[in-house]
Amino acid sequence: EKDGYDWFMRKEIFEQPRALADSLLGRRTPTGELQLDEMRLSDDELRDIDKMIIIAAGTSFYAGMVAKYAIEHWTRIPVEVELASEFRYRDPILTQSTLVVAISQSGETADTLQAIRHARVQRSKVLAICNTNGSTIPRESDGVIYTHAGPEIGVASTKGYLTQLIACYLLALYLAQVKGTRYGDEISQVIDQLEEMPGHVQTVLDRADQVYALAQEHVGTRSVLFLGRHAGYPVALEGALKLKEIAYLHAEGFAAGELKHGPIALIEDGLPVLCIVPPRGRDQLHDKMISGIQEVRARGARTICLAEEGDDSITPYADAMIRLPNVPVLLQPLVAVVPLQLFACEIATALGHDVDQPRNLAKSVTVE
Ligand code: F6R
Repeated sequence: EKDGYDWFMRKEIFEQPRALADSLLGRRTPTGELQLDEMRLSDDELRDIDKMIIIAAGTSFYAGMVAKYAIEHWTRIPVEVELASEFRYRDPILTQSTLVVAISQSGETADTLQAIRHARVQRSKVLAICNTNGSTIPRESDGVIYTHAGPEIGVASTKGYLTQLIACYLLALYLAQVKGTRYGDEISQVIDQLEEMPGHVQTVLDRADQVYALAQEHVGTRSVLFLGRHAGYPVALEGALKLKEIAYLHAEGFAAGELKHGPIALIEDGLPVLCIVPPRGRDQLHDKMISGIQEVRARGARTICLAEEGDDSITPYADAMIRLPNVPVLLQPLVAVVPLQLFACEIATALGHDVDQPRNLAKSVTVE
């Protein structure tokens, strides 16, 4: 039941605060330690891990890209992120101390399943991050972190993606706790911040009308670009994927630092560019993003900037602005992706497409 929404996708976008809260439920012991009940891998096994490979497809792959930033930052374990369809074919280096993490909403994606089978033959440990209880991928894994998004019916993944991010952050923090790479205080501080995220996502949703209005202004566009840096880069890729899938528009995401290495040649008068601006005050990330935005605008792009509340440095270069709550850079994908989902959903609706059943796509891809 769509509960009065036109599409399951839109309903699922608005369910995200609840999905996040459910995915965070019961993760702390009475003494404040992080616990992951279905983890099944012992602390000793996890302490031995010296390399991680995250395998996934599509939107789940983009969740994996965000996870890499968090896991490496908090645990100092090197992480590779690999498309499931490419993994087996490059003769990957896998040992008993490699942890392979398979991210799959459905738990049935054929490429991801084949990849974990390959990893287990090489005696690596496999952990699944999955939204579907009892599906094949978690059944064939050594451990699992279930996300609690509830059933996702729209073909384009939304709440599935946000809850995958939560599971990835929890995994990163759990490994940091087991390996002792972060102090307990810091870990519980991040969990506190995660627990504020459902409220922050709700704040973004409360301003959906603003995003819809912007989308309506761009219904006639033939192409849209997305720019991000750091954890905002995979968000740019995900924003572009959503538009391709349901609005059938040409859309591409770029790392802002790559612009001058080619993509800036695409910029022409009036081309909409959605820019995910990192929070202020971290390295030079924020300032470098602003100069990227200046560059595309100077060449005629119409810049739509997603920037945190109070960040006024961006105003002179923004043709339109979408405000995001103040959150740490590693957690920003949780709030930044939401306007991009709304944007794609609104444009696809205006173009008259079937948002829940986009052409040529299936909800779970059980063929390789
Ligand atoms: C995008 C989308 C697909 C899936 C991909 C992986 O909106 O839905 O790109 O993310 O097919 O599916 P799962 O996560 O079920 O393995």
